[in-house]
Amino acid sequence: MATLPKHLFEHKQKSNKKPMLRPTPHTKGTKKLYIKTYGCQMNVYDTQRMADALAPEGYVHVEQADGADMVILNTCHIREKAAEKIYSELGRIRLMVDKNNKNVAEGQETKPIIAVAGCVAQAEGREIMRRAPIVDMVFGPQSYHKLPEMLGKIANGQRKVLDTDFPTEDKFDSLPAANPTNIIARGVTAFLTIQEGCDKFCTFCVVPYTRGAEYSRSIARILNEAQNLVNNGVREITLLGQNVNAYHGQDDAGNAVNLAGLMTALDTIEGLARIRYTTSHPNDMDQALIDIHANQKSAMPYLHLPVQSGSNAILTAMNRRHSRESYIKVIERLRASRPDIALSGDFIIGFPGETDDDFEATLDLVRQVTYSQAYSFKYSSRPGTSAANLTNQVDDEVKTKRLAILQVLLNQQQRQFNQNTVGATLDILFERSGREDGQLIGRSPYLQPVYVDAPTEMIGQIRPVYIESLGNFALKGNLAS
Ligand code: 5AD
Ligand code: SF4
Repeated sequence: MATLPKHLFEHKQKSNKKPMLRPTPHTKGTKKLYIKTYGCQMNVYDTQRMADALAPEGYVHVEQADGADMVILNTCHIREKAAEKIYSELGRIRLMVDKNNKNVAEGQETKPIIAVAGCVAQAEGREIMRRAPIVDMVFGPQSYHKLPEMLGKIANGQRKVLDTDFPTEDKFDSLPAANPTNIIARGVTAFLTIQEGCDKFCTFCVVPYTRGAEYSRSIARILNEAQNLVNNGVREITLLGQNVNAYHGQDDAGNAVNLAGLMTALDTIEGLARIRYTTSHPNDMDQALIDIHANQKSAMPYLHLPVQSGSNAILTAMNRRHSRESYIKVIERLRASRPDIALSGDFIIGFPGETDDDFEATLDLVRQVTYSQAYSFKYSSRPGTSAANLTNQVDDEVKTKRLAILQVLLNQQQRQFNQNTVGATLDILFERSGREDGQLIGRSPYLQPVYVDAPTEMIGQIRPVYIESLGNFALKGNLAS
């Protein structure tokens, strides 16, 4: 017998249930906004900008979903099970809503506005609407500046709002500046997106599909945003982009400016002590940018430069457009310019066709480069990417074994890097209070977390700290007089 389409059953089941709750209509005044963030630093930044977009509507960010007037899940689609995680979370929210309405008279039930944002929303918008009736709004990473407009539609009785367009206007131009209260609450380090999207199409990666084509913001807008952050106490800015070092903005006269030029311009902002940037592509590490690490004090001696694999055959299959040798050359040029630069990387283990020899080449590259920290992942096939069609997939068991071997090596290198700084005096930017009374957590120029006994007033200051010891997870230091 032919199987009937699943949705016919779902429709029948649904018709026996109570009609789906509508979000509670909002009154004027303060409203609570809960945003759960998944994935990368750019999502953390987008979450903050969503909160900025909603602040003029009276929304204040809270730390839990229960009791919130609006819940946004800001999702990530980079590796597998991303969508399933979101459906589980939506299931938990559904239970929370039901529990809160258990003893409430019929017709008086309440429900927050529930939205799914980010890259899963971009990739699976309609499917989310279909599978999770509790969701009111779905929007992608390029349309969250329209949040007030979307809320207006819901307030006017529209049941569902779906916006996964890549609009022609720049979302950053339409977003309000972050207000001082929000900046201060976020602390003395901040993210700032300067570039978004990717045109490189590595065969494993969903980013070109979820974030769209490469786009760089103008110098003036970035400088404005950076100045606003610094005016409100920020001392360190991490510039963000999927291909941040491919940045090519324009100054007011219409001249092209690359990342080195932007870093030079940012260096003129008084009070901005540290600048970092992530994530870079090896092919876009031009000499001007490499020189910045030697010549500009605010450029931190730390670089996240993913290589993904140490095997040329795999790099070709990944469409990385660089070889093992050209990557190592870039590292050599960086070290010639700034000998103490700390390196971080990303690795994908078990890309289709990866042999024992290919994996050995990755281990060999890691031994040759030596990293201060790194991120490593098992390859996961992503719908819509060209590697998903490859038939020579690697067994999960093999991937697990290889990943464990690589991670032992990377952890050893990280420990060794940290150990090498014991006995040194490093400038530490104090970021927040530690777990113990009287303790602050700060970061070294190499992005290492360091625990120091110091007064709360020192948050936001950069002080020389003598690195005394290395614990299980972090360094411990003392204020150097
Ligand atoms: N499988 C595993 N890891 C991936 N990454 C990106 N796509 C995949 C995938 N399909 C990793 C890469 C990238 C980092 C952000 O995530 O290492 O640099
Ligand atoms: Fe993805 Fe490659 Fe672009 Fe990085 S460079 S975002 S890995 S496609």
